[in-house]
Amino acid sequence: MNKPSEFTDNKYFKPKDYLGYDREKLQNVVGELNTLLSNYTVYYQNLRNFHWNISGENFFDLHAQFEALYNDARLKIDEIAERILTLRHRPLSRMSDYLEIADIEEATLIDEDREMILTTLDNHRILIANMRNVIKKADEITDEGTIDMIGGFLEAIEKKSWMLDAWATHKLKPELEAAS
Ligand SMILES: [Fe+2]
Repeated sequence: MNKPSEFTDNKYFKPKDYLGYDREKLQNVVGELNTLLSNYTVYYQNLRNFHWNISGENFFDLHAQFEALYNDARLKIDEIAERILTLRHRPLSRMSDYLEIADIEEATLIDEDREMILTTLDNHRILIANMRNVIKKADEITDEGTIDMIGGFLEAIEKKSWMLDAWATHKLKPELEAAS
């Protein structure tokens, strides 16, 4: 009979703690990451809703824009879940958990394109706040891998939010018009 390896002391595989994090504080990072995973999943479905239900003179632009956004969200959802696994925890994977935990609400059927963009911007506000909380908790245990990943997400979503806001702002403010 083979001698059990140092990795196994019962029927379940028990990996070595090669990461070396404070386990209790790591839970806080994972908690924020699971919230972010939940928020991103609801956001993703909201974008699909908008991609399918957009109509009017901006159809071609926004139909494509929402598709680009949900394809980007799909990749980030996977990266967040796999970061949680990398930290040796389990990502939430049930829709009922996502809906319970997410701060982002399911979008209803929206007719107006501008309302869709403003709802997307409001979803971004929640994602941005959630990302900053992830970074704050990760910083407490110098979890640079998470900080680096989420920092990249944050920079990109802040920039995209500026673009959506620029699209939604149809008119120059009177004082800017007067100055031109
Ligand atoms: Fe499509």
